[in-house]
Amino acid sequence: MKKLIAISLLGILSACNSDPTVEKPDGAENYALMCAGCHNPGPGHPGTMLLEQAGRPVASLFGRADLDREYLRTIVRQGLIEMPPFRPTELSDAEIDEIYAHIMSAEPPVTTPAMPVK
Ligand code: HEC
Repeated sequence: MKKLIAISLLGILSACNSDPTVEKPDGAENYALMCAGCHNPGPGHPGTMLLEQAGRPVASLFGRADLDREYLRTIVRQGLIEMPPFRPTELSDAEIDEIYAHIMSAEPPVTTPAMPVK
């Protein structure tokens, strides 16, 4: 029995070995994973809705000419009122910069509203 456990543990451990062919997620993918749920355009996104209430020029983060990289880094690390902070184990500094570059350069994603707008 012990041997069986040892063998299966070995299997699990070797499955954890980092595979160099697996690519790290880029800025667009990390944005989609970590930010899109709250910051994509349209209803149903709490970040977009609250930033609209706060009177930001563009409520989703895309195309915000006034959005400074240092400011975005600080918000992501410390959070802001309703927004949770992200630890370095969740997003590295380099990954935050990649998200920033994505937000600054990409077209805003087209999202379907969660509820039909009448
Ligand atoms: C759980 C929802 C949520 C997630 C996930 C989230 N945010 Fe936010 N974010 C918010 C809310 C809500 C605000 C507005 C602050 C407030 O009024 O509570 C905000 C504000 C911001 C602001 C400040 C904008 C301004 O005009 O002052 C930045 C920058 C920002 N978020 C970037 C990000 C990035 C980058 C990510 C992904 C790494 C992210 N957020 C993930 C909810 C979220």
